[in-house]
Amino acid sequence: MLVRCLYASRAVTTGPDIESILDQSRRNNPKLGITGMLCVSDDVFIQVLEGGRDEVCDLFNTIVRDPRHTHVRILVFEEISERRFANWTMGQVNLAKVNPSILLKYSDKATLNPFGCSGHATMALLQELVATAAITGRPS
Ligand SMILES: Cc1cc2nc3c(=O)[nH]c(=O)nc-3n(C[C@H](O)[C@H](O)[C@H](O)COP(=O)(O)O)c2cc1C
Repeated sequence: MLVRCLYASRAVTTGPDIESILDQSRRNNPKLGITGMLCVSDDVFIQVLEGGRDEVCDLFNTIVRDPRHTHVRILVFEEISERRFANWTMGQVNLAKVNPSILLKYSDKATLNPFGCSGHATMALLQELVATAAITGRPS
């Protein structure tokens, strides 16, 4: 059974930590059959994880305990019939490089605030970022 988990958190540190998180993701996720995307702004992470229910839940439980972020909030958890991020072991979006009009399309201000809007709006934003090729990194 496939599930999708979307969550947001507050970054404790950024910079080199992002590379190390992406390295870990790209090393571990293929073995687990997990795909997804990590979206990073100044102090916010948004991540979507897709895969088997056990694998996604186990990885999420590991991620929640990671000291590089705090205030982890699940935005969407759903059973799915197909993946939306099948091509990405863990794609990355740096929101500093995203056109503000895309942010404005889904929220009241051109800043990222996943804690103050619906999970489905945040999911729609991520899908648009994939569609507009704002996503970077190595496809799986
Ligand atoms: C925002 C965030 C997202 C993360 N995403 C993943 C991920 O998709 N896959 C992963 O294996 N680790 C991820 N991690 C790291 C895990 O918390 C943990 O450090 C890692 O899985 C340990 O892997 P290792 O034992 O191979 O070093 C993430 C950490 C943070 C803070």
